[in-house]
Amino acid sequence: MRFGITLISVCASAAALAISMPAASQAPEAADTCVECHGENGISTDPTIPSIAGASPFFLENQLIIYQEEARPCVEQVFQNADPKPAENHCALAQDLSEDEVTELAEHFADQQFRPAAQSFDAAMAETGASLHERHCDKCHSEAGTFTLDDAGILAGQWKEYLASTMKDYASGARWQPEKMQPKVEELSEDDVKALLEYYAREGEQRWDSEPVQASE
Ligand code: HEC
Ligand code: HEC
Repeated sequence: MRFGITLISVCASAAALAISMPAASQAPEAADTCVECHGENGISTDPTIPSIAGASPFFLENQLIIYQEEARPCVEQVFQNADPKPAENHCALAQDLSEDEVTELAEHFADQQFRPAAQSFDAAMAETGASLHERHCDKCHSEAGTFTLDDAGILAGQWKEYLASTMKDYASGARWQPEKMQPKVEELSEDDVKALLEYYAREGEQRWDSEPVQASE
């Protein structure tokens, strides 16, 4: 439980910051690099890159710490194409951030309005996905994974392609996974995962009032 320990200290510093400073409305400087891939205000137009807008600050901070610890795939190939090349990979990029920058970036992107991905879905599979979600996932990803206080990321309206690849990373152990989520994910067949992702695609435009975002390609 390395993360548990790190997290407590991050939360403590986030709380201290909240008391000592009014909410920052200006984007932190380090956000310039992030939006090159994650899109303006953290709304991604690339289905392989997650939107990071509107997720909880706790979740976003946690992911940056997980990258610092290299407990998620470091996505090197994406960085090879980036121009200018900001860092060797996502883990190195996270490792270059100070503790304050991690907190500021998490708060900044959490403050942005999430916009659902405009993506097609298979209606029958989405229906199957709805009941799978209810049974296996809803407890921690309530309201189709749009309730940000769950601190578990955003599922409905997130790009399907990204969700598919991160679900594979959980299954293979390449991404650190909450202990309680693991037994649920292990119960799923490949078809179950596909159905769940069709459900999150269907729910995206239904659950969010904000304007859907189109893929850039
Ligand atoms: C070169 C492109 C690139 C840059 C620059 C970049 N990211 Fe990422 N980021 C990605 C990709 C691709 C993923 C998804 C990786 C995966 O599949 O696990 C990701 C994942 C994330 C996640 C996890 C989101 C989730 O839902 O789990 C967070 C948080 C994040 N990035 C924050 C940042 C921040 C903050 C910055 C700037 C300091 C940044 N990223 C810069 C490409 C980039
Ligand atoms: C016991 C609670 C729990 C259950 C049950 C659970 N999850 Fe999670 N899930 C989490 C937490 C907590 C996170 C955030 C993980 C982190 O910080 O890395 C998460 C993260 C995720 C992510 C990554 C989101 C992102 O933006 O990167 C996906 C995808 C996901 N869960 C899908 C599912 C699916 C599908 C199910 C049902 C089969 C499920 N989860 C069941 C707690 C749970």
